[in-house]
Amino acid sequence: TILPVVMAGGSGTRLWPLSRSAFPKQFLPLVDDSTMLQQTITRVTELDCSIPLTICNEVHRFMVAEQLRAIDKLGSIILEPQGRNTAPAIALAAEISRVDEQDPLLLVLAADHVIQDGDAFVKAVRRALPLAEQGKLVTFGVVPDCAHTGYGYIQRGDSVGDGFEVSQFVEKPDLSTAEQYLASEKYYWNSGMFLFKASRYLEELNIHRPDIAEACRNSLVNTRADLDFVRLDEESFLACADESIDYAVMEKTDDAVVIPLDAGWNDIGSWSALWEINSKDENNNAFRGDVISHDSSNCLVHSDERLVATVGLDDIVVVDTKDAVMVAKKSRVQEVKKIVEQIKSSG
Ligand code: GDD
Ligand code: MG
Repeated sequence: TILPVVMAGGSGTRLWPLSRSAFPKQFLPLVDDSTMLQQTITRVTELDCSIPLTICNEVHRFMVAEQLRAIDKLGSIILEPQGRNTAPAIALAAEISRVDEQDPLLLVLAADHVIQDGDAFVKAVRRALPLAEQGKLVTFGVVPDCAHTGYGYIQRGDSVGDGFEVSQFVEKPDLSTAEQYLASEKYYWNSGMFLFKASRYLEELNIHRPDIAEACRNSLVNTRADLDFVRLDEESFLACADESIDYAVMEKTDDAVVIPLDAGWNDIGSWSALWEINSKDENNNAFRGDVISHDSSNCLVHSDERLVATVGLDDIVVVDTKDAVMVAKKSRVQEVKKIVEQIKSSG
């Protein structure tokens, strides 16, 4: 069986001020009426899957439970007292899934990605199944269209099954390296979704980061199940290193393979990415909420409550929420993280 493992513990600061620590982007309806978390789970129902296992920060537990219940997919929810990134999150899921001698295939999903062609995604997962059954750690690779430095890069090797061996996995290279990779046409972006047997992930983690594997096992020793929530031993979990699966395992393992994914994937890592996926008017504006404009083009304007009006703007992002307004050049929206840092440091 396939067990979807939904990683929903990120903080999503790049979509500030819409995405906040209380409401990170995975819990928001960014593209249609359902939230990113709900879309992530609905997308895989066509596959023969069990009820998903979700991992999130404990402060979000009721919101997560409610969103899962609303689509009839409420399963166990592992609660992290504080995030330790994805390597531990997936280790917890893998350990929990292994009770009763089971060894399911974990379909690890980020809760905050857009995939426009759901059928193509399901097909890619089906192609990945035989390789994962053989013990491979499958990644899904997207053909890059720029030298983005926020992604993992996967170098394609010999073909195997319906995919390729991974000759090199490089997490978040610097710009000049990313430019070389792009030009070589031999690399995919890591989409951040994976398929592997629970046992194989734990074996590889034990080899490459035994400290993380151990901390996660310890966190589950005195696990308390409370409704659908799985509560960890806080002290053990907080002692775990903060590391992503990409650095901890995918860069190091010899058993990774990549299945190409051409499904309109977008991780909406910025306001400009959200502009790209939204439907636009004849002047290339994406307006969300109550917005009026005159002679504006290529803009993204988001309003939660009030009427927002623009005159003569080009390539501008305006986001109006109940307690904050952000206005930025569309080409510089990556820098909203600077604002979030300033807010954090001013307490
Ligand atoms: N439960 C839990 N706990 N989930 C987490 C945690 C955590 O501590 N940290 C992150 N997540 C979730 C996020 O919500 C997101 O859905 C997913 O895990 C990936 O984390 P990101 O923080 O968004 O990673 P990234 O975007 O920097 O990089 C990853 O994704 C890229 C594609 O979007 C890497 O896998 C890259 O290689 C990849 O290219
Ligand atoms: Mg991400």
